[in-house]
Amino acid sequence: MNSNTIRQAFLDFFERKGHRIVSASSLVPETDSTLLFTNAGMVQFKDIFTGQATPEFSCAASAQPCVRAGGKHNDLDNVGYTSRHHTLFEMLGNFSFGEYFKREAIGYAWEFVTQVLAIDPQRLWVTVHESDDEAAGYWLKDIGLKPERLIRLGDESNFWAMGPTGPCGPCSEIFYDHGERVTGGPPGSADEDGDRYVEIWNLVFMQYERKPDGSRVALPKPCVDTGMGLERVTAVMQGVYDNYDTDLFVPLTLQLGTTCRATTAHPRTNGGLVRGEPSEEQHLSMRVVADHIRSIAFLIADSVYPDREGRGYVLRRIIRRALRHCRKLSDAGALMAEMLPVLIDSLGEAYPRLRTAEKVIRQTLAREEELFGNTLEQGLKRLSGFLEQKSDESATLPGQLVFELYDTFGFPPDLTADIAREQGLNLAMDEFEQAMQAQKDRARSASRFAGKDNEHPNVDISTQFTGYSQSQDTACVQKLYQKAGGLLCEVSELKAGEGMVVLDKTPFYAEAGGQIGDSGWLTWEQGRFRVERTNARNQSCIHYGRIEQGCLRTETRVSAAIDNERRQRIRANHSATHLLHAALRKLLGERVEQKGSLVGDQHLRFDFSHDAPLTRAQCRELEDMVNAEIRRDSPVVTEIMGFDEARARGALALFGEKYARQVRVLTMGEGFSMELCGGTHVRQTGDIDLFRITSESGIAANVRRIEAVTGEAARAWTQQQDSAVHELQSLLQAKPEHLLDKARSLRQQNKALQKSLDKQGKRLAVQLASTLAEQADQFGEAHSLVTQVGVSNKKVLMGILDDLKSRLNPAVLVLAGGDGEKVSLVANVNKRLTSRVKANELVQQAGELMGTRGGGKANMAEAGGGD
Ligand code: SER
Repeated sequence: MNSNTIRQAFLDFFERKGHRIVSASSLVPETDSTLLFTNAGMVQFKDIFTGQATPEFSCAASAQPCVRAGGKHNDLDNVGYTSRHHTLFEMLGNFSFGEYFKREAIGYAWEFVTQVLAIDPQRLWVTVHESDDEAAGYWLKDIGLKPERLIRLGDESNFWAMGPTGPCGPCSEIFYDHGERVTGGPPGSADEDGDRYVEIWNLVFMQYERKPDGSRVALPKPCVDTGMGLERVTAVMQGVYDNYDTDLFVPLTLQLGTTCRATTAHPRTNGGLVRGEPSEEQHLSMRVVADHIRSIAFLIADSVYPDREGRGYVLRRIIRRALRHCRKLSDAGALMAEMLPVLIDSLGEAYPRLRTAEKVIRQTLAREEELFGNTLEQGLKRLSGFLEQKSDESATLPGQLVFELYDTFGFPPDLTADIAREQGLNLAMDEFEQAMQAQKDRARSASRFAGKDNEHPNVDISTQFTGYSQSQDTACVQKLYQKAGGLLCEVSELKAGEGMVVLDKTPFYAEAGGQIGDSGWLTWEQGRFRVERTNARNQSCIHYGRIEQGCLRTETRVSAAIDNERRQRIRANHSATHLLHAALRKLLGERVEQKGSLVGDQHLRFDFSHDAPLTRAQCRELEDMVNAEIRRDSPVVTEIMGFDEARARGALALFGEKYARQVRVLTMGEGFSMELCGGTHVRQTGDIDLFRITSESGIAANVRRIEAVTGEAARAWTQQQDSAVHELQSLLQAKPEHLLDKARSLRQQNKALQKSLDKQGKRLAVQLASTLAEQADQFGEAHSLVTQVGVSNKKVLMGILDDLKSRLNPAVLVLAGGDGEKVSLVANVNKRLTSRVKANELVQQAGELMGTRGGGKANMAEAGGGD
């Protein structure tokens, strides 16, 4: 059986047993911010296990790609060195949500393994949790497993948890014995880490949920979560014990070998591959690359892009580790790109998203390779320089060096560790952490004055928001806060100055989900409080502002009124943001994902994943689509419904965002846009009036930003553009239709002028140099010229210096140019003389006298400014 047949046989088997076949979820856990990546088949069902969501089915089965790199369950360091660890693997799983429990789970697993896969029961071993007599009983009595094949183990191996929080429970694992040809002992024995006994299937009996405070509570219903590693089972079925020898990896390594042979420019350093049989070291590198290309491709297909932090950083680490191993195999680049078609050929049917994303994967890899290519070379040089000079026999790389490699050359520490491992060295991670901390402290002290306000009161009152339908409401003051001597204090009255107010209910929208808060007034008999901004804290809305009149006490009833015109502008911008989001997905494809947004009263900003700048024409098309919806003047409909129903209807939700069980769903146009949203919106799309994009830019790798305006602001912006065109007309003395030609021809003229100026400068430099050369002093064969010239243009000054260099050889040359205001100083020392005179030292000494600043190297230096 090949891997594709095994996967299908598994799904078919459980479908016959009444399970719903669910497609794999994204590697980015959709509604779970506690997890870095989907690391098990059960992740997409987490809320069902904990009772927060109710599915339409009571048991399910899936094939789920999982990434175990970074975070809990991190296998990255082992990959390549063992026969069965991977950054990405596929997990085949069946799940029961209260439908069945231990007995059936064990029965199904045994039936599938021994009958469908027809694995010899003599080769199977089983573990159970030491406390789990029930599961042990089923194995011995129902299945008839020999008691010597059943091993009881503790929490470490037989208690499974998704992450620091979430569902968990005792488990029972099935092991396959590869036989005596492989070394290793049965589970629980001293040499269990060997490759002989391999865990192929883990049956977890989900019974608890681990809470953030570490406590464990019972799940509403006992559930089952099983996971079988496709790569390992495939190895068993194909009669090999090394996953890399299965049909999941062999085509990849073969392709890699072929490309290396074809592209290697230096057969000497790559003899093994060129002659056919890779060396052990090359073998390891090929495994690493074959493994990593899989996780790289799947992650990018799920819209994870290389980044400095978070998920993107894990991807970057994987790519960089792979690139280093590629470099060891061949000095040509782009090895992984050649493997992509092979990967897609084998997995594209089961995971069509790989096929759709092929171009993006290719581009992302190429960009990352370009980014890292140079520094990789330099960093490796720096490292080998250190290793050559290392005089003592210590087996540790200093943390400072690890930090330098990280900070200057972009080497993630695990990449450095990977290299160090080949040399038998460890990393001084404590020292590295200290260096990192020191850098963070420096950054923090540099931003201390950025004026960030972290001083929000910690209130636990929940404020009812009445502002969806009202702009004014009557409310009762619950809590008041004021700063005294720099400290935030709860007070019973606000007499004057700045303060914070918490009400029982309010029409003020508390800043959240990218929408800024409202401003307005709280008024009461003989008093007024100006609300400047608001913020959400826990469930409460905090009104920040100042007393303008009177004194405000707790328990006072106030009239709370928002600045309605401002709110109208915010509404229009928020609704336009939804229309823009929908238009982007229609124009660029469903892969476009929101990465952030800001809805203000003056403008809106929308960040999204996309791998290339938008063209002018695309921006125009977006504007047209949004404006067409505005002209259609369709009603904006809000509905409250269950999260699952909303998702089923196709409402967009943000990745990583936590949603309540009941959500607000906002629809505009006939299905044009449907999103989960708690913000405030216009009633009809026509209220937005006009939408104009003011800028499009890139803010990070593969993240674009659109800024736009609506309504009055859009009209004002359009008029400004018009005025600019009018002014240009009179400035350039041209009609609108000739403006562009005129500007182009001016630019050309300017270039030509600059060219002729440069030419004259050069001629002047040569003339000057020939006169100056005669003034040089001579010491033996060396010349020296230190002089002042009446030229301030750096380019000309450099031209003179260049000319002098060829006339006086070897020489020490120092030229000071100036225009009466500032000094330009350039120094050049022929390499043959730098052991005695250094240009940078000359410049520095001159600087002490003249107040100039600058520097350089022993042969060339420059400075400027001064007296
Ligand atoms: N969640 C368990 C595991 O990952 C079984 O699916 O091993």
